Amino acid sequence: MSSLANKQILLGVTGGIAAYKSADLVRRLQDAGAVVQVVMTPAAQEFITPLTMQALSGNPVHTHLLDPEAEAGMGHIQLARWADLVLIAPATADFMARLTQGMGNDLLTSICLATAAPIAIAPAMNQGMWRNEATQTNLDTLIKRKIHIFGPAEGGQACGDIGLGRMLEPLQLVDAAASLFTIGSLAGKKVVITAGPTREALDPVRYLSNYSSGKMGYALAQAAAEAGAETILISGPTQLAIPARVTRIDVTSAGEMHATSLHEAKDCDLFIAAAAVADYRPLQIAPQKIKKGVNDTLTLTLVKNPDIVADIAALDPKPYTVGFAAESENLVEYARAKLQRKNLDLVVANNISDSSIGFNSDDNAVTLIDNNSVTDISQRSKHQLARELIILFAQKITAR
Ligand code: C5P
Repeated sequence: MSSLANKQILLGVTGGIAAYKSADLVRRLQDAGAVVQVVMTPAAQEFITPLTMQALSGNPVHTHLLDPEAEAGMGHIQLARWADLVLIAPATADFMARLTQGMGNDLLTSICLATAAPIAIAPAMNQGMWRNEATQTNLDTLIKRKIHIFGPAEGGQACGDIGLGRMLEPLQLVDAAASLFTIGSLAGKKVVITAGPTREALDPVRYLSNYSSGKMGYALAQAAAEAGAETILISGPTQLAIPARVTRIDVTSAGEMHATSLHEAKDCDLFIAAAAVADYRPLQIAPQKIKKGVNDTLTLTLVKNPDIVADIAALDPKPYTVGFAAESENLVEYARAKLQRKNLDLVVANNISDSSIGFNSDDNAVTLIDNNSVTDISQRSKHQLARELIILFAQKITAR
């Protein structure tokens, strides 16, 4: 089955008889792993009720552009930002015309104007309306504008006509949506990513570690696999599921992550160090559980762990090597120092003094620093950010 794991899909429903199939489409999108929010035009609500779509999607249905309540929480801009894909099914001839004109006279068209996410439409209309020169001219414009067109299919229509204009079946639409996320820009490339925390054993039952969730590294692995790369994810202990088409190698300590990384990175094109590696480990791992002593203090001696990403950057040939920098002050200055000290090609820096982003959060906002430039990327989901970063790294690798 096609995967839409972790994808946030904004399903737009416009006023055609095929709207009854949109209810099933919500379910099929969810089966493929997507989170779905529904926007309905007034005409769509003549065919199917918002209540049905709300019950199926598990989210409130959005119907009004100027809804004081919605504006407070999730106005058209928030919805436009939230979406990884805006899928309009069914898309009527009237909706196609308004999309072509760039109108913003309802919630759905306004979202289409505002979003940076890809837009796909599944046209559904009478065969005469589909063949009409106006619709076909609009279609040409939409294709030029890189709007994805799913269908329509040929066959019997609700009005009794036979011809082109039937909406694709829900499962076909899920497949078409999933294929949009397979961008192919890393086809034939090998990508190695470290993620999550490491654990440094003190004795058989205790360890030193940190709160890294691994979400950013896993999102990068998913995006790399979707881009067609052979993707190896070297992961410390996390609660996260293995993304589709990713090979995960589980490690525990920094030492294990170091050895595995050096082995896997020898022939890779891109190495991304997203793990929060413990800087130090106990000098000795006690063979038996350390007993509580009579003293009120316990002194541990720690030794430095190897710097994994620096050792990868010293390889010959060197993969395009990306490190992360979590800083609470002087972000660019410290990240640039890291870039040089570790001989990295690029550093993804984030400000850890803001708890809504970075460590353990679903969102991130970062600054990219390489030898020539400093680029800010504003707050967005880690999955969306990961896809943008992978596209950028693919361009860097190609330009080498
Ligand atoms: O030196 P610092 O820990 O601040 O650098 C962070 C970057 O270096 C991250 O990309 C992290 O994955 C990587 N790193 C590493 N091995 C270490 C320490 C950090 O690969 N021992």
